[in-house]
Amino acid sequence: MKKTPYYITTPIYYPSANLHIGNAYTTVAADALARYARLQGKEVLFLTGTDEHGQKIQRIAQEKGVTPKAYVDEIVAGIKDLWQLLNISYDRFIRTTDDYHKESVQKIFKRLYDQGDIYKSEYEGWYCTPCEAFWTESQAGPEHTCPDCGRPLERAKEESYFFRMSKYADRLIEYIEAHPDFIQPESRKNEMLNNFLKPGLQDLAVSRTSFDWGIKVPFDERHVIYVWIDALSNYLSALGYENEAYSDFKTFWPADLHLVGKDIIRFHTIYWPIMLMALDLPLPEHIYGHGWLMFNNEKMSKSKGNIVDPVVLAEHFGVDPIRYFLLREIPFGSDGNFNNEAFIRKINTDLANDLGNLLSRSVTMVEKYFDSVIPEPKVPGTFDEELESILREAPQKVDEAMEHLKIPEALAQIWNIIDRANKYIDETMPWALAKDPEQKDRLGTVLNHLLESLRYVATLLQPFLPETAQKLFDQLGIAPCGFDSLNTLRGMTPGDRVRKGAVIYPRIDLEKKLSELEALAVQDEGAQKPTAKLAPLKPEISIEDFEKIDFRVAKVLACEPMKGAKKLLLLTVDLGNEQRQVVSGIAAHYRPEELVGRSVVLVANLKPAKLRGTLSEGMVLAASDEGDEHLFLVGPQGELPPGSCVR
Ligand code: ME8
Ligand code: MG
Repeated sequence: MKKTPYYITTPIYYPSANLHIGNAYTTVAADALARYARLQGKEVLFLTGTDEHGQKIQRIAQEKGVTPKAYVDEIVAGIKDLWQLLNISYDRFIRTTDDYHKESVQKIFKRLYDQGDIYKSEYEGWYCTPCEAFWTESQAGPEHTCPDCGRPLERAKEESYFFRMSKYADRLIEYIEAHPDFIQPESRKNEMLNNFLKPGLQDLAVSRTSFDWGIKVPFDERHVIYVWIDALSNYLSALGYENEAYSDFKTFWPADLHLVGKDIIRFHTIYWPIMLMALDLPLPEHIYGHGWLMFNNEKMSKSKGNIVDPVVLAEHFGVDPIRYFLLREIPFGSDGNFNNEAFIRKINTDLANDLGNLLSRSVTMVEKYFDSVIPEPKVPGTFDEELESILREAPQKVDEAMEHLKIPEALAQIWNIIDRANKYIDETMPWALAKDPEQKDRLGTVLNHLLESLRYVATLLQPFLPETAQKLFDQLGIAPCGFDSLNTLRGMTPGDRVRKGAVIYPRIDLEKKLSELEALAVQDEGAQKPTAKLAPLKPEISIEDFEKIDFRVAKVLACEPMKGAKKLLLLTVDLGNEQRQVVSGIAAHYRPEELVGRSVVLVANLKPAKLRGTLSEGMVLAASDEGDEHLFLVGPQGELPPGSCVR
């Protein structure tokens, strides 16, 4: 019989730096889904890869003094090692710098141009030189300042190719409404429809001339193709669409699932479907936008420096605990928090206590009372029926959860077996039965039920925790089972032997481990600092020049985000004899509520200026590295009344 194909993808990651646990989250989730589909007997193609072009990568490589390709080669090698470490069973790894991919992208671009969906025009707008971004008249506002950084904009023109997004907008709206589970979860679907599609789509600039690390427009080599057109096409080129490298496009397109984080859901549910419509190709079945992994309630990201390195975690805890925490603890559709303490607690309760103990108690008793030989279930008794019915229902329940991409729920069902089996031990008290030779057969039945429960657990756990499942099978003395074997509660063969092994999850000393990890984090910070790039020094000034500037201590009384300007905060500060309002470009680094009550340094005699239409009466000082990756406000090191001079 022909197997049902199943094509699942992760985003292709930017190799701008090593990946963190947030990127690993998507990939681990996709891996669990892919493994599950394989066990269901589907023919799976699980694709992942890297998105290697673009200005940011070009700039980082330049700073390091290497070619972009040399730079990404090294990061990509590290990414592949990481996936191997985390047991990611991808079938194909695409790099957008691969020749076959470039060939596809150029052909796609050319075709869209030839059929009139892409046209050449001029982009005229308000340009922010430091941010290298164009803004429309309405975004620039009456003062013509950058919505991101607040600096003045310049009028500028750039030649660019444009994609006629607007042409397909109505068709896409119709499609989304007719296919309610195309965009998941539901909340993201509504967000896309109401915030982006229904207000109207603008044509999209799909080429750039300001840098050259990218795929060239085949008929106009001064332009490189916009990274998102390049990147999204990977889902097609990896199957051999418009290239000869692969030939399974027919089998696997349309994709069953594009799994992405919510940060890129718009690209995947608007630009991508429109590209596919223009290419006259069917749309993917499902696009799922999962939530963010937060670290102490902030989004974990490369630029925030709050990243958790999965390699370090794996060294300390092994791989399956990481997989378990990500898959079980993070509600799949919404944001979830990662921190070391919650992580270790979860290992101790769920893996060491619940699962680990069930295995070692069960196998130890078979060893002790039956010389390791699996006993026959000859004498049914109280409590058997309840455990059996949980086992009988579990596969179906796990299946339903997976069908709806509810991975934590699937794991909860498996832990339901584990909990019930542990309770069964307390109820049946096998150690008491063992004291009475007349109860030998009942004891054998109880132990057989425990082994059978463990076999169910091991079988169902395979997609999520492959190494742990293998260890369970090893100690049960059986080969890995398929899902079909869960049609019967007689899967263990009486007379065969169990093979007791080491404790699979020793308990972790929480306090000790936490302080070890803390020490590592401190070392790490130290190691990262010397790579910071410094701005050149400015020309000399006189003391008189300096004294013209009136620096004062100011205390933040109130602070709120600025509407429509995601980098700006509006502060109200106390300057001793007066209050001032100040607009400051620090929103990426501070939450408003964090600032209230802090003392900062204000340039108090700076000519007031309007930023995004709001008057800013002074400027607060902050220290930051080149590129503003890290930024900290400057303030006095002790208590001083507001208005105090800074000299
Ligand atoms: O966006 N929590 O690449 P990228 C959960 N190249 N998931 C997270 C996360 C977090 N804190 N941080 C990142 C790109 N992710 C483009 C994609 S696809 C055609 C092109 C995950 O390296 C999440 O899946 O910035 C997010 O969508 C992805 O990493 C972004 O990876
Ligand atoms: Mg990103």
